[in-house]
Amino acid sequence: MPTCFRREHLQVNTDIRVAKITESIMASSVKITVNGQEYEVDPATPPSTRLVDFLHEKNLSGTHVTCYQGGCGACTVVASFVDPDTGAKNTHSINSCLAPLLGCNGWEITTVEGLGNRYDGYHVIQERLAEFSGTQCGYCSPGMVMNMYGLTQSSNTWTASQVEQHLDGNLCRCTGYRPILDAFKSITVEDIEDSHLARCPKTGQACRGHCDKKENAKVPVSDKKATPTLLQTKDSAWHQPASLQDLYNILAGLEEGTTYRFVCGDTAQAVYYSGSYDVYIYTRHIPELSRVAQAEDGVYFGANVSISRVMQELDTVSSGRAGYAYAKELVKNWHRVASTSVRNLGSWAGNLGLKLSHKEFPSDIFINLLGAGAVVTTALPTGSTSTHTLEELLALDLQKERRVILEMRLPPMSDEVVFRVFKVMGRWTNTHAFVNAAMAFRVDKANAHTVVGKPLVAYGGINPTFVRASATEAALEGKSLEDEGVLQAAMQALADEIKPDNLPQDPAPEYRISVAQTLLYKMVLGIVGSAASSTVISGATDLERPESSGQQEYDQNTETWPLGQPIPKLEARMQCAGEAEYVNTMAPVSEELFGMFVTSTQANARIASVDPSAALAMPDVVAFVGVEDIKGVNNIMAFAWPLPQKLFAEDRVSYYGQPIGLIVTKNRGAAYGAREAVKVTYDDIQPPVLTIEDALQKPPIKGPPFAQGDVQAGFASSTHVFEGAMSRDGQYHFHMESQSCLVVPTDIGLDVYASTQWASETQRAIGQVLGIPDNTINVTVKRLGGAFGAKIDQCNIVATAAAVAAQKVRKPVRVALDLDANMTIIGWREPYFCTYKVGVDDSGVLQAVQATLTSDAGNVAVDTSSPDAVYCMTSCYNCPNWEVTPQVVLTNTSCNTWCRTPGTVEGVVFMENILEHVAQGMGMDPLELRRKNLMPDGGTRPLNQGMIRLRSLIAGKEAKWLADNLTVPRNLISDMITQILTSANVEERKQIVANYNQTNLWKKRGLSVMPLLWPYAVAMTMPFNAMVSVNARDGTVVVSHGGSEMGQGINTKVAQCAAYELGVPLDTVAVRPSNTHANANSEVTGGCHGSDVASYNVTQACKKLRARLDAFIEENGLVDNSWPEVVLAAFNKGVDICERYVNGWDEVKSYPVFAVACTEVELDVLTGQFLVLRTDILEDAGKSMSPLVDVGQVEGAYVMGQGLFTVEKPLYDHDTGRRITDGTWYYTPPAALDIPADFRVSLLHNAPNPVGVQSSKVTGEPPLCLAFSVVMALRQAVASARGDAGVTGWFQMDTPLTVDTLQRLCLVDSSRLTIK
Ligand SMILES: Cc1cc2nc3c(=O)[nH]c(=O)nc-3n(C[C@H](O)[C@H](O)[C@H](O)COP(=O)(O)OP(=O)(O)OC[C@H]3O[C@@H](n4cnc5c(N)ncnc54)[C@H](O)[C@@H]3O)c2cc1C
Ligand code: FES
Ligand code: FES
Repeated sequence: MPTCFRREHLQVNTDIRVAKITESIMASSVKITVNGQEYEVDPATPPSTRLVDFLHEKNLSGTHVTCYQGGCGACTVVASFVDPDTGAKNTHSINSCLAPLLGCNGWEITTVEGLGNRYDGYHVIQERLAEFSGTQCGYCSPGMVMNMYGLTQSSNTWTASQVEQHLDGNLCRCTGYRPILDAFKSITVEDIEDSHLARCPKTGQACRGHCDKKENAKVPVSDKKATPTLLQTKDSAWHQPASLQDLYNILAGLEEGTTYRFVCGDTAQAVYYSGSYDVYIYTRHIPELSRVAQAEDGVYFGANVSISRVMQELDTVSSGRAGYAYAKELVKNWHRVASTSVRNLGSWAGNLGLKLSHKEFPSDIFINLLGAGAVVTTALPTGSTSTHTLEELLALDLQKERRVILEMRLPPMSDEVVFRVFKVMGRWTNTHAFVNAAMAFRVDKANAHTVVGKPLVAYGGINPTFVRASATEAALEGKSLEDEGVLQAAMQALADEIKPDNLPQDPAPEYRISVAQTLLYKMVLGIVGSAASSTVISGATDLERPESSGQQEYDQNTETWPLGQPIPKLEARMQCAGEAEYVNTMAPVSEELFGMFVTSTQANARIASVDPSAALAMPDVVAFVGVEDIKGVNNIMAFAWPLPQKLFAEDRVSYYGQPIGLIVTKNRGAAYGAREAVKVTYDDIQPPVLTIEDALQKPPIKGPPFAQGDVQAGFASSTHVFEGAMSRDGQYHFHMESQSCLVVPTDIGLDVYASTQWASETQRAIGQVLGIPDNTINVTVKRLGGAFGAKIDQCNIVATAAAVAAQKVRKPVRVALDLDANMTIIGWREPYFCTYKVGVDDSGVLQAVQATLTSDAGNVAVDTSSPDAVYCMTSCYNCPNWEVTPQVVLTNTSCNTWCRTPGTVEGVVFMENILEHVAQGMGMDPLELRRKNLMPDGGTRPLNQGMIRLRSLIAGKEAKWLADNLTVPRNLISDMITQILTSANVEERKQIVANYNQTNLWKKRGLSVMPLLWPYAVAMTMPFNAMVSVNARDGTVVVSHGGSEMGQGINTKVAQCAAYELGVPLDTVAVRPSNTHANANSEVTGGCHGSDVASYNVTQACKKLRARLDAFIEENGLVDNSWPEVVLAAFNKGVDICERYVNGWDEVKSYPVFAVACTEVELDVLTGQFLVLRTDILEDAGKSMSPLVDVGQVEGAYVMGQGLFTVEKPLYDHDTGRRITDGTWYYTPPAALDIPADFRVSLLHNAPNPVGVQSSKVTGEPPLCLAFSVVMALRQAVASARGDAGVTGWFQMDTPLTVDTLQRLCLVDSSRLTIK
């Protein structure tokens, strides 16, 4: 199983056997140019150091890191390096977390800082991304910018579709990608030519824009001829041979037992980290290995040729050279191999090297080249060469023989051969194959499509040894593909010979056997074409994703501008330039130390001993901080939470990855080794409980039910009763900035820089754990690189640990989790399980709903949402009788926590599922059923009094009287459904879908409409402390508020409110970081409250201030004076020109948010892969305070919901309880090419909210629920497939609907894979 790259590469290797020094010259330096400035790299740098480490060392912190695995694109930079064969300078986007620093010798790197900045001006790509609102939290934005810059530098022209393809490896959790795609597609060649870099890559001076980039294109080879060099690092040798002979000499000179590794792109280390080696042989300087050549017998590619370059050449020959039409198939498929930036760095030979050393790796390149008949040449250290087919190559032990791959030849293929390659994967791009295949059949078309000779049928992703399906090939050889018997015999042979291994991280063996069969079936259908019946022919093709597009509509409301003006976020430009600072990227402070958690390797055991002595003896290790160092209380939960959550485990550990202590070191590198050296022993090891199903073996913790009416009476009056169940698995928040905190001891206490959604909670938690008063703790929150609920209270694990360490060592300590640690230590969205019983009358009107919602809290029930969820089930529907019971189970998993719209999404979607069940059972149109059951105007929604009481208590007040219900004067849903029926052309499209499904057996479509009432509930006390200060001398305004800016645009909305209320231009308003001094006691930024309540308080403060100044103007006759004149005059007369405001009891109102979505999907029944073809959303945002911000919230939330319901699935090792999905290899949130291909968002027209802040409604969370429309649309597609299989009736659809789940539900059976 791939081990993700955990940055352990920074550890040192103590057992060194360095190769004999050959003819190589001992290099004294490594030079690298970054943004025009040349740097010397210490040649003794460990070979495992990555380019991004160096950039950060040079304080170029605009290049961000999220995964360190090549899986997120946050670290994208642009690199130019000279091809040693042609002398051409190639410029591409690459992942700086993958590129080995020593290998960058002579490279020119451009980082986001090199493009533009606030001093020299921004680059057009930065400007455009900002203008299009393509940045929210901004953590992904520099990587996005550099990705696009890479495209503009690697080619002279580009199409919209290429822009889209190029963005295949950059993740963004906030925006939903649509605005990023639109921003980049709008950039033309002329735009780039007119936009200058901040720094000239040649001179390092400010760019004047005079250079033509083509001038630099070619460097004479003679000028750049490399010399063989050797870098002697502390623990290893790094050879850079400049010729094949140098290479052979090095190989021949390796001492027996020396471990060595060839390095080309070094990207494979991110897939399987294989530790450190005695010798590294960097082959990139050998001209022959970079060669691309056309010869009579084929096209030749040197071993170092990047996958991207191979694709480029194949694209050319596929249309320009006879015998290479087949290469199109390879190019198409390789667009789905890794990502563009990985392919730019990684070589085809490196991919094969990876496959050879890890036979289980489902290499697409290997299986595709095998199918294409590639021939690989290798050489021994003697220089003797031999050629191999790919199967022969796989049988070799390259390491043992010290054999090196030199080149491959791709031969032409006869036009009589039908060649296809397949890749079945969990999302559209940048993820590994579940199953891949290559097939090549020579076919006599005229003779009933008879297979001539032996066909080739090869698969990957089955098991480490399986490649060729020989029995299947034999079953097809010489046979007519039009013969059903032949096909069935082949299917049987395949089922008999394929024996997939069964590992928790892979889809089940049954699925992989079935997909192997369906891929063969696709091949056969594709060959026989019109000889197959028209209904089955849809199985022949793969899904084709159209180029995406988007539309956005909203009212202009110009009368209140800048309030309501569609503007990009205030911080957008600096975010796109990498200037925006996060806790994770802040430059180190003096004497700063680094903290890394020591975590449990058992999920349910007693800690017998903890011994850090070996770690403490290691260089650069300063301290081990354990539970005994906690001077206060071992509880990170502050305020009034009923249960404690321990910072460090005391007696027992309850989940794999639970913090046991913190190792404190002088640098991050030292921490990896030290962490491993802390010896923890366990006894009383019990099997972990990992699922709700297992946990329910014990009685759950029951909460008070939401009860209304009399359900038993309701069932008695029902003529139809349905019962069922549904589960919904957890979700990782995937904030791009990991959990981070820096604690700096000062003379007056602690300065804390925290990535927290709730500064005052973090302040109190630190005070509680350290046993110190809150007034000695100053928490500052500038911005968060995403949060989505994970940083409400679970961020306190990191903050309190850093604080305990800082208290102990009396030095600044930063804790910033790596992605795998973040995904392991910190809890996710709670998994849920719902059982239900529903009664309706003959016309489908609801009579009674009874349900139990079970949530999995993880190992401690501190952040459970099911007590809230039960009140959200009503959504926009009416039913006289309800009984919905919440219950909570504990499992041996991390403490699950709030995640964007917690509780609400569960209540809402379980109710939608119930309605789907009823519609199916009653044979009714699902939308018609919903419309029948809509809540009437003046209806009421239940309130979760318990939660409101708790929140009030947290704010120090007792909620004595609370209403049971919230009255909804107008249920807008009915009108909104009517509106979307027209705007999305629903009826006509439904008919088209029905016709499509009738005529296609293997591709199905579904179209669903989902209404939503999202109950925005503000507790009676939800204080956000706002401060507005006017500077007397120039009239500029500074605002600070108690919320956290985490991408949702709180600062922008607040500034718009301030500018509007004060009557000043928006650009005179600045928003400063929140802190616990200026904005003391503020509540949590979560549940949509932050932007809403902070805007309210800033509005109120500004109103008070404006009233005071208006009175002053009146009194002093200053009506014709400008704002700066007025404020200065007021100041001079002793008028207070600052104001603060905190909302009082019940001042900010609750209200319902309405929304409707219509989603259409297309499903490939044979594989379970699907596309979201189109989504229309109509969202009630009231009178939007900031339409671009709100549209961004809608799009981003919807796509995050799409991930929740389809691709994102937590997986565990059932023995140890380890979460396998702890990185980007196995956990795949939606990428740019997964979003709805046609994405239309409208904010409801002319819908001011009389009780809302500035007449607006909140937008951050509700649209996530709407993504359940994808599930509902898929249900229709699956139901149609099941109908074709002769199975009708209700079926349970648990989410996430991963491709294997979908295919299984479609009841694909090999006996139905027929031609007629
Ligand atoms: C995020 C990510 C996603 C990926 N997704 C996919 C995917 O979807 N499908 C897929 O097939 N692959 C995928 N890969 C694998 C990727 O294609 C390889 O990592 C890459 O091609 C390796 O090339 P490299 O030049 O970086 O090799 P390196 O990392 O430099 O080397 C890899 C191995 O090959 C050996 N090697 C290198 N050159 C030679 C040579 N000349 N002779 C003999 N041995 C040699 C090395 O010793 C080493 O063992 C992914 C990788 C990453 C990081
Ligand atoms: S940090 Fe480099 S790809 Fe994620
Ligand atoms: S803006 Fe893309 S991850 Fe936040």
